[in-house]
Amino acid sequence: MESKLKPMELVVIPVLLALLNLQNWANARPQGSTGRFTNGRTMHDFIVKLLGFKDYMPPFAESEGKNILNGVNYASGAAGILDETGQHRGGRIPFNEQIKNHKTIISRIRSLMRNDSATKSLLSRCIYSVQIGNNDYINNYFKPKLYDTQQRYSQREYATLLVQQLSGQLKSLYDTGARKFAVYGLGLFGCTPYAVSVYGTHGSVCVEKVNMGATLFNNRLKPMLHQLNTNLTDAKFTYLNPSGNPAAFVTNSSCCKTGAGDGELCVPGSSPCSRPRQYVFWDGLHTTDAWNEIVAKSAYDSKTPLEAFPFNIHKLARL
Ligand SMILES: *[C@@H]1O[C@H](CO)[C@@H](O)[C@H](O)[C@H]1NC(C)=O
Ligand SMILES: *[C@@H]1O[C@H](CO)[C@@H](O)[C@H](O)[C@H]1NC(C)=O
Ligand SMILES: *[C@@H]1O[C@H](CO)[C@@H](O)[C@H](O)[C@H]1NC(C)=O
Repeated sequence: MESKLKPMELVVIPVLLALLNLQNWANARPQGSTGRFTNGRTMHDFIVKLLGFKDYMPPFAESEGKNILNGVNYASGAAGILDETGQHRGGRIPFNEQIKNHKTIISRIRSLMRNDSATKSLLSRCIYSVQIGNNDYINNYFKPKLYDTQQRYSQREYATLLVQQLSGQLKSLYDTGARKFAVYGLGLFGCTPYAVSVYGTHGSVCVEKVNMGATLFNNRLKPMLHQLNTNLTDAKFTYLNPSGNPAAFVTNSSCCKTGAGDGELCVPGSSPCSRPRQYVFWDGLHTTDAWNEIVAKSAYDSKTPLEAFPFNIHKLARL
């Protein structure tokens, strides 16, 4: 198969964000680690800014009081669609548990608002931003020494399984009152410096068999979202797979020196490259702040159906 380098957004942090009113809350700048696998902001941080929010979504664990009316960040590193995904990494919050956390937030919103119809209306105006599935490959299927999914499923069967499971999860969110969904396709992780160094490319720019996972998943995700739009009253699901032009960027190496984690994360205390804004990849898998800003703009206002279908985030917010 013809290989073409098209590095895409690749955040291994799955995200379920509920964006509510366009208000600002107390400015709390991060002190120390933010839990983000990048040198700055994630794509979602930039999208939140483009939507007019003054600050980042507070993480679920630290969300309190009326701040939850502005949105909550349920993201967790290494988490997946499958509960087992990422278990070799230790503590993580799989998507099923993120949905439970969201139900906890809903009951807190109910008691804050003391008005069921107002609560229902609020939940229907939120944007539920769901980016999940990368870890089901990186921290599951492509780690055959640690997980048995490769023995049990072909690549096609596995993609079908993941998209079926995700469909049920999205329906259960719909049942809680969610209506506006931004759901992300997977990035081409076969183009990451980590995948290239582990598998080799046999003359291509990227690792084809690894990219195949993302392609099979995305080819099933898009029609599934279309069906949900048809099947569920008032549902507004949109598929996003934003990209950018990497021509002016370094794409064949990471900015930091890698070796931690399974070999893909930055070595703690090592000096990063001097110009991170010229790199697509911060570490062996995750993209830089500079690249995340580019793909966020694309998710927000792309007119290309391959990147945003049937609508971009700008439109979704205004429906
Ligand atoms: C509840 O909210 C609705 C708007 O969604 C409003 O019309 C109604 O007056 C509210 N009821 C009470 C008791 O505040
Ligand atoms: C939508 O409904 C059809 C007909 O009932 C069903 O076959 C299909 O599985 C549903 N799709 C999804 C994604 O739920
Ligand atoms: C990356 O590409 C540049 C420009 O083509 C080349 O000079 C450099 O050696 C490459 N680096 C790696 C690590 O392959």
